[in-house]
Amino acid sequence: MTEQLTVIVLAAGGGTRMRSKTPKVLHAIGGRSMIGHVLHAVGTLEPDRLVTVVGHQRELVGPAVAELAPHAVLAVQEEQRGTGHAVRVALDALAEAGQRPTGGTVLVAYGDTPLLQGETLRDFVAAHAAAEAAVSVLSGIVEQPTGYGRIVREADGGVAAIVEEKDATDAQRAITEINSGILAVDAAFLAACVTRFNDDNASGEYYLTDAVGIARQDGLAVAAHPVLDAQQTEGVNDRVQLAELGRELNRRIVTGHQRNGVTVMDPASTWIDADVTLAADVTILPGTQLLGTTTVAEDAVIGPDTTLADCEIGAGARVVRSHGQLAVIGERASVGPYSHLRPGTRLGVGGKIGGFVETKNADIGDGAKVPHLSYVGDAEIGEGANIGAGTIFANYDGVAKHRTTVGRHAKTGSNNTFVAPVNIGDGAGTGGGTVVREDVPPGALAVSSGPQRTIDGWAQRKRPDTAQGRAAAAASDAAGAGPVSPDTETSGE
Ligand code: UD1
Ligand code: MG
Repeated sequence: MTEQLTVIVLAAGGGTRMRSKTPKVLHAIGGRSMIGHVLHAVGTLEPDRLVTVVGHQRELVGPAVAELAPHAVLAVQEEQRGTGHAVRVALDALAEAGQRPTGGTVLVAYGDTPLLQGETLRDFVAAHAAAEAAVSVLSGIVEQPTGYGRIVREADGGVAAIVEEKDATDAQRAITEINSGILAVDAAFLAACVTRFNDDNASGEYYLTDAVGIARQDGLAVAAHPVLDAQQTEGVNDRVQLAELGRELNRRIVTGHQRNGVTVMDPASTWIDADVTLAADVTILPGTQLLGTTTVAEDAVIGPDTTLADCEIGAGARVVRSHGQLAVIGERASVGPYSHLRPGTRLGVGGKIGGFVETKNADIGDGAKVPHLSYVGDAEIGEGANIGAGTIFANYDGVAKHRTTVGRHAKTGSNNTFVAPVNIGDGAGTGGGTVVREDVPPGALAVSSGPQRTIDGWAQRKRPDTAQGRAAAAASDAAGAGPVSPDTETSGE
């Protein structure tokens, strides 16, 4: 595209039917706000200028737009007096920012059409240029045209006008070719046009669509190009439509991954955000959500029933029925079932986080294992180490968080508590039930529980008439032991 391109995104409207404290265009599907999707699509055209018109709840929409499109000019439309007025405000804001279009095309889009794709816009702008029209409309043929502006064509097929629903005659209301809202307009013509709009219509608003009638009056060409994929220009007005377009977006994303070589066993129960990256030969099992900027490398198998947000999963890894956020899982590592990986979890190559394990700020080395029922917080576990079942890394003393390190190939016993800050050395070990409060040097074995006391015959004496006492007596008889003496006690090591 050699011509200059200016894009105006309209997002000043209210969105009352969302019944939400959140502005309509900031509601998200597929992991991006609606206006995020539109700005993404528009961004792929690399326009020379981009202006977004904000108004309603601009204190929320403005900063969101500034973050999504830092180079966009923000135009504030104090009062929403119609799409024609909004475009005038946009051109004024560009002029004020020293970015007045000096020629080329102005493309107008809305901030609430989340399925819109850059390719569709590119084709439309190219068609507009090819037709040498002053105004081009991206139209759509729909079964249910209610609410849309209708494309009124002349006998020879040329576009005569766009008539809004409220202003339409019965005959015009029967027209099924509608204005999607996306317009391409010659920049010089538009600059003159915005001063000629009036609000002499059923809504009392300045209609951008009147640009069509004005062009015709001036003897300029107008074109309408029906969009093949009408859902791309569908807007969201309420939460029912938000969910419908959300499901459709998801269907498109999932289908795209399948075409690229990802196995998705149950697309209907699989949710993948727009910014997720999946390699070929990844397998996704039912009930899985891959959110944010999650990436999954080849041959990994995710699911069933797993949610991963902003995670990085290595090749050949396996994650089963688990929940992860900002976690990095190494190649061929395995996670789950039923584990919770909180931010800052890193699991090394071939490592294991087994069932019912919670991790946070935990760097677990290559081949290291936390197989069962544990909490690992603020920890570094060396390669090849094995953490016993039911171990708690007690990282919080009620005031501050502290770190624990476990050395390479250390083997710690079951049901341990590591009271941070504490270090367990390379190749060290701990006995079952140990509460580690002091550093364990490399190669040492730490045992903190006292020697075991065993009081022989206790059950027979203290609970003779219970099932426990009778079982004990029977076992004692079978073993041929005599009657128990009252004070026999042995000590374990
Ligand atoms: C508009 C079109 C109609 C088209 C339909 C497609 C006009 C006059 N009508 O009607 O032909 O079929 O969209 O959905 O253009 N906005 C502003 N400032 C305003 C008014 C609107 O920024 O003062 C923004 C809204 O936030 C929204 C978009 O412009 O994103 C469209 O406004 P809306 O009120 O929904 O227009 P429709 O009546 O639906
Ligand atoms: Mg609308």
